[in-house]
Amino acid sequence: MRIRIMFGALALAALALGCGEGDGDERGALIKRGGAVYDANCSACHAREPHEPGPVGPAIAGSAFELLEAKVLRNEYPPGYTPKRDTLVMIPLAHLETELPAIHAFLENADR
Ligand code: HEC
Repeated sequence: MRIRIMFGALALAALALGCGEGDGDERGALIKRGGAVYDANCSACHAREPHEPGPVGPAIAGSAFELLEAKVLRNEYPPGYTPKRDTLVMIPLAHLETELPAIHAFLENADR
């Protein structure tokens, strides 16, 4: 039940974000949303603090949008990019396509 309420709130947040112009409050909401998506989908392998290496995956704070798109959706890298690891352990998480802007905002904000 709790989880349903949370998803409802996330859906509303997405709607609100879709209508806005991108001022500071909306940026804050996007970062917050990205943090929740990251906690739920990435932090089992990458660290809770994305600028640190995680138990399985490398530090990914500040990752470029193109990198996130390639790696998260297709388990690939953008042309010319040198991966931090030469393994291919990560599974693609293509269902997160619509969340990439939020994940990107969160990781950009965490790169300090
Ligand atoms: C099952 C564990 C696992 C999960 C879940 C996972 N990753 Fe990864 N990730 C890895 C590993 C391991 C690597 C290192 C390359 C490889 O082996 O695939 C990696 C590499 C990456 C890279 C490339 C880093 C670089 O610069 O070379 C990015 C970006 C990334 N992950 C983002 C994410 C995001 C965002 C999520 C959540 C949506 C996520 N990962 C979920 C394990 C995971």
